[in-house]
Amino acid sequence: MRVVESIKGMQDLSESLRRQGKVIAFVPTMGYFHKGHLKLFEEGRKRGDVLVVSLFVNPIQFGKGEDFETYPRDFERDKGLAEEAGVDVLFTPSAEEMYPEGFQTYVTVERVTKNLCGAFRPGHFKGVTTVVAKLFNIVKPHIAIFGEKDYQQLVTVRRMVKDLNMDVEVVGVPTVREDDGLAMSSRNTYLSPEERKAATLLYRALKEGERLYREGERNGRNIVKAVESVLRRESLIRIEYVKVCDPETIEDLETIEERALLALAARIGKARLIDNLLLSP
Ligand code: PAJ
Repeated sequence: MRVVESIKGMQDLSESLRRQGKVIAFVPTMGYFHKGHLKLFEEGRKRGDVLVVSLFVNPIQFGKGEDFETYPRDFERDKGLAEEAGVDVLFTPSAEEMYPEGFQTYVTVERVTKNLCGAFRPGHFKGVTTVVAKLFNIVKPHIAIFGEKDYQQLVTVRRMVKDLNMDVEVVGVPTVREDDGLAMSSRNTYLSPEERKAATLLYRALKEGERLYREGERNGRNIVKAVESVLRRESLIRIEYVKVCDPETIEDLETIEERALLALAARIGKARLIDNLLLSP
């Protein structure tokens, strides 16, 4: 596995790989790898000749008072896991080179970033789309892989790629979960044992919403209420939002016609956790 730190080094490498006719698969990450990341790597290895993974804790997608400083970091561990997972190139740029003095160009995707996390984390998706656009220009991938765990992020990146005619195929991968259903996340490390136990309710609440949908419930508000009432059983959980929305537009759905995204965000201790399920016949 090659570790590349400089932007020019990565661009030159990708250019030469492309000239050799190699298909470049790319997984952008902020590191502290877990099985969710590893699943994306596996998908990348299947789909490309060369797998590039970026590891960059992107400062501009964190708001004031969020966890940029405390976000878990362990480069040596990540390097070992990436190597084992068959990653060919680990790209680890510095914040200084990504955002030098004078940086002032941003990518904003409008409507699909308004609801859900966009409503609670102002500027977050602007930070995500800007860094992903930059990474695409640096890594020049044919295929880029994202997790459905961050569903709104996936939809936002797809929208950006379409609207800006980026020549990248975006692939989504289903959420990888712990045995008890908790979605894998680097932020789960923030949880105390007691909080970790409480966190299992997030998935169980979503499953309760899904159960109602399977029984024929099509009123978004009724599903939201049922999910919230499961979450309220646990005083350690502070609900940020529970929403039923259109999986393409990310707008609230009063009545589910066919498919819907059931999404939630909650705070448990220091952690802000998100999860979702796609409701589909
Ligand atoms: P990060 O949180 O490190 O996640 C990197 C990728 O892994 C994202 O596409 C995310 O959706 C996916 N992922 C995380 N947990 C997952 C799980 N349990 N199952 C499946 N996939 C999972 O998301 C980011 O970083 C950043 O916003 C980034 C896109 C790198 C831009 O900075």
